[in-house]
Amino acid sequence: MIAVDLHEPDDFEAWRSEARRLIGLGTPPDAVAWSEAGGTSDLFAAPSAAPAGPAREVRASRAFVELARSVVLHADPARLALLYRVLWRLQDCPRLLDDAADRDVAALERLARQVRRDIHKMRAFVRFRSVTDDDGVERYIAWFEPEHRIERYNADFFVNRFASQRWSILTPRLSLHWDGMTLLEGLPASKADAPDEDATEELWLGYYRSIFNPARLKVGMMLKEMPRRYWKNLPEARQIPDLIAGARQRETEMIAIGASLFEDAAPTSLEAVAQGIAQCRRCAIGCNGTRAVMGEGPAHAALMIVGEQPGDTEERENRPFVGPAGQLLDRALGEAGIDRQAAYITNAVKHFKFAPRGKRRLHQTPTAGEIDICRWWLDGERALVKPRVTLALGASSARGLLGRTPSIGRERGQALVQPDGTTVWLTAHPSYLLRLDGAAREREHARFAEDLAGLSKLLANV
Ligand code: URA
Repeated sequence: MIAVDLHEPDDFEAWRSEARRLIGLGTPPDAVAWSEAGGTSDLFAAPSAAPAGPAREVRASRAFVELARSVVLHADPARLALLYRVLWRLQDCPRLLDDAADRDVAALERLARQVRRDIHKMRAFVRFRSVTDDDGVERYIAWFEPEHRIERYNADFFVNRFASQRWSILTPRLSLHWDGMTLLEGLPASKADAPDEDATEELWLGYYRSIFNPARLKVGMMLKEMPRRYWKNLPEARQIPDLIAGARQRETEMIAIGASLFEDAAPTSLEAVAQGIAQCRRCAIGCNGTRAVMGEGPAHAALMIVGEQPGDTEERENRPFVGPAGQLLDRALGEAGIDRQAAYITNAVKHFKFAPRGKRRLHQTPTAGEIDICRWWLDGERALVKPRVTLALGASSARGLLGRTPSIGRERGQALVQPDGTTVWLTAHPSYLLRLDGAAREREHARFAEDLAGLSKLLANV
């Protein structure tokens, strides 16, 4: 018997090179005892000493290699022998994987499916909590217990998503630490090493309570998507039994009073908004790893200016409208006699949505759904700042303010009085002007200036 110990149980390349060597030497599956560091090894096995002999060529299809990459990550110690047996059989039966009824093939597919599911669950269910490092910088720490050895596999995903933040993911097998530049691997951790709660958690729980729609409750479906084993590390899941129990009553109440979805958890200060958006992962943009950019300006400004979303420069500098569009806006406001410093300036969407192109990050327009989700924060800012007039720059901003997508062409440059008595004033987005040239550019600049002049008059009268 030949003993092969895989030092790292998720090391596909190590398994592959041993398996190729053994197959090349014609070693049948029942002559190999696979084990892994920390696993139980075969007591009768001798240390790896495959007989030397004429090596034969090893054949493995790309489909097998892809399957094997996932299966190696499975926690089942028998997977290594199973993989080797299938690789062995593939040498004489290259189409073996097409036979879904074959027991070995079916077992491999099942293990791969379970690993893929665990990978997906980790991406969806890691919940970060914020702490302050010794050097005063914020770090996000999450505790997660994967079923399989997927931590290293998933590391790149989290690096890409949360590239500009410092974070650690602690698991029972190892920990991953990202400082914005380098990914380091650390020792196994325990749940006690991770922080318990942070200030925004209450807000998130309140939000979850408020978006939990009892009328759409499908317990079976929910359990499929969010299996019970993940609940213990998901703050929002602690509330699920109570929410299910009270669903019928809540549905009746909601119908009766037309309750606002978010009623429970409206932020009570601009600091709470800033903390909330920093943690917000309620839409795909919030999950893209950029920094949320908070509005800025006097806390009770008469004028609020709302853009679409921070751009590349804004996200890096952590301030709204400081890039090229911001410079154009500043100039135009100045020409209209409006003081930017006296306005509270923010965005309908708080994170930068982009598509990576090499080293560049290209702006992408947020969807109506994303704007509607982020409206929760914009409404929070408006309720706190209480501006008398709000300038909407472009269609996304207008949607965030009005809850519908208006025609800028038809509704720009006029006072749109809102049910709360405040006024929204619409114009084009400065980025749109930056993309034009020639006559269109001149015409649109003039219309923009005209809209701001109208706004200036309105401000003088409110
Ligand atoms: N465009 C926006 O809509 N907002 C910013 O903050 C910057 C550019």
